[in-house]
Amino acid sequence: MCGIVGYVGARAAAPVIVDGLARLEYRGYDSAGIAVDNQGTLDIRRSVGKLSGLTAVLATAPVQGTMGIGHTRWATHGDVTEQNAHPHRDASGRVVVIQNGIVENYLELKNDLIAEGHTFVSQTDTEVIAHLLGVHFATTGNLAEALRRTAAMLKGGNAIVALSVDAPGTLVATRIGHAGGVVIGIGEGEMFVASDVPAIVDHTRNVCFLEDHDIAELTATSLVIRRPDDSVVDRPITRLAWDPVSIERGPYKHFMLKEIHEQPRVLTDVLRGRIDLEAGTVRLDDVLLDDAGLRGISSIVMTACGTAWHAALVGKFMIEQIARVPVQVDYASEFRYREPVLDAKMLLVAVSQSGETADTLAAMELARSAGVRTLAIVNAVGSQATRVATAGSLMLHAGPEIGVASTKAFTAMLVGQYLLALRIAQARGVLTPATMRPHLRALIALSSQVGDVLNDGTDYAALAESLQHTSSALFLGRQLSYPIALEGALKLKEISYIHAEGYPAGEMKHGPIALIDDRLPVICIAPQDASYDKMLSNVSQVKARGGRVIAITSVGDAHLAEQAEAVITVPASNPWLTTVLTSIPLQLLAYATAVRRGADVDQPRNLAKSVTVE
Ligand code: AGP
Repeated sequence: MCGIVGYVGARAAAPVIVDGLARLEYRGYDSAGIAVDNQGTLDIRRSVGKLSGLTAVLATAPVQGTMGIGHTRWATHGDVTEQNAHPHRDASGRVVVIQNGIVENYLELKNDLIAEGHTFVSQTDTEVIAHLLGVHFATTGNLAEALRRTAAMLKGGNAIVALSVDAPGTLVATRIGHAGGVVIGIGEGEMFVASDVPAIVDHTRNVCFLEDHDIAELTATSLVIRRPDDSVVDRPITRLAWDPVSIERGPYKHFMLKEIHEQPRVLTDVLRGRIDLEAGTVRLDDVLLDDAGLRGISSIVMTACGTAWHAALVGKFMIEQIARVPVQVDYASEFRYREPVLDAKMLLVAVSQSGETADTLAAMELARSAGVRTLAIVNAVGSQATRVATAGSLMLHAGPEIGVASTKAFTAMLVGQYLLALRIAQARGVLTPATMRPHLRALIALSSQVGDVLNDGTDYAALAESLQHTSSALFLGRQLSYPIALEGALKLKEISYIHAEGYPAGEMKHGPIALIDDRLPVICIAPQDASYDKMLSNVSQVKARGGRVIAITSVGDAHLAEQAEAVITVPASNPWLTTVLTSIPLQLLAYATAVRRGADVDQPRNLAKSVTVE
């Protein structure tokens, strides 16, 4: 998540904004900036690098004013430069915008604006928002109305905050889709807006959360929230409890639920600075292998534990099918003792959320001692895996994952591996810019699609009701869906304590079919891909024996409804990224079942978030 902070009130805005951004810095960033209305003049300061860079700039060139906005950025479109740092101005220079998210249709909008004579100084999608806002503000004279009209033109997931020196004392904000949270802090004679609660909680505990497509207009003493149809709506004001844990949890009952719902934003963050739709290219600056290095890889060994191992099984499909490089996958606890045959032309890829898992680190050391380059795909910044990896670390930028059951880190791993497969394919000439672009468009659309799955209205509480007393469950999938079946089973067993098993659907007839009866829930992951027809046969085999089927399939499916007691559908994507979409219902099903059984969701018995011992 980028850091976003806005302030309007009686105090100097800059210290409030910078302190707020510092409270969000756990996510890291590559540049920062601030804009303050200094009695009709827009004072803007920006810097590349960490927030300390901006603080140093402000020390020598302070800004004055009681209304402003500030931002910390990960490059999404365009390099990490001061020019690309937020805030961004419109053509007049009197409107300024900050954003968290991705404007999927920014290219089309930018070309239309250029055709109307606009010129751009950055490579960002955010500058396009600023120019659109300036145009609508010039015609309407009302900043909130201008934002409403601008938001209607954008596709994607965004959190946007803006101000204009021609709308003194007024901040506007909107949330589009599910990628970017926007929280409003209601103070005494002052208002705050931020992308997450920690930036606000020192000043007020009265907050409200914008819903998808809300447009908020704030002054020091007023808050008006409108819908796209211009109707005014009231959002409930939540009084935050004062304990840091619940503050970090925000409106969610458990960290796991919060992290499940953070995935649209996380899947935007993991792309930052790594894809260029215009150029049709992928760049992984934190992977220390250039094109020649990537071309020289003879084969890849992926090693991990638990959920990360399931991710690596998907990674094998991605890298082999997209980049055409042979991949073997090993549990780290197996790899390190099996005397593997290794050579220096291989690459070991260690996948780990914590970067501290003892078996995974040991596997990395074993490979390194054999002269094999080691790459980490990891979430935790500064973890041991990032220090021992010799070929760099592909950071997942998912933010701290507190719930012991991994959710947002898992889907971030899937996307991180997909980016690695694309990068290797690009280096080896397997993908050209033209054949890369469909992959990039699917990636850009993913965040919104995940948000759609999260908000599709499925009654997981009812499903949990039907599962809560079962003593066992079977998860079936084929090809790319087989690792997802394994992951679904792990999610259910580790937080609800119901025994669950993932199995390749084609193997059911070789034994597990003996388990089928009218009590055993069989969760079938059957998206409309090359294995779909075979999965339909497996579902029929289960039904023929009186089994219970819960199906996860593609939107528009017409076959499974009569076979399954419940069908959950996910939007269409390519086969590799469909694994992200089919994972979401499994996370929510496991969560709802565990809650129904009164389990300790965030800290299940016997488990630890990071297994740093063998
Ligand atoms: C996943 O839900 C579990 N918490 C566990 O299997 C975890 O994935 C495993 O311990 C590996 O952890 P890591 O990703 O931090 O290496």
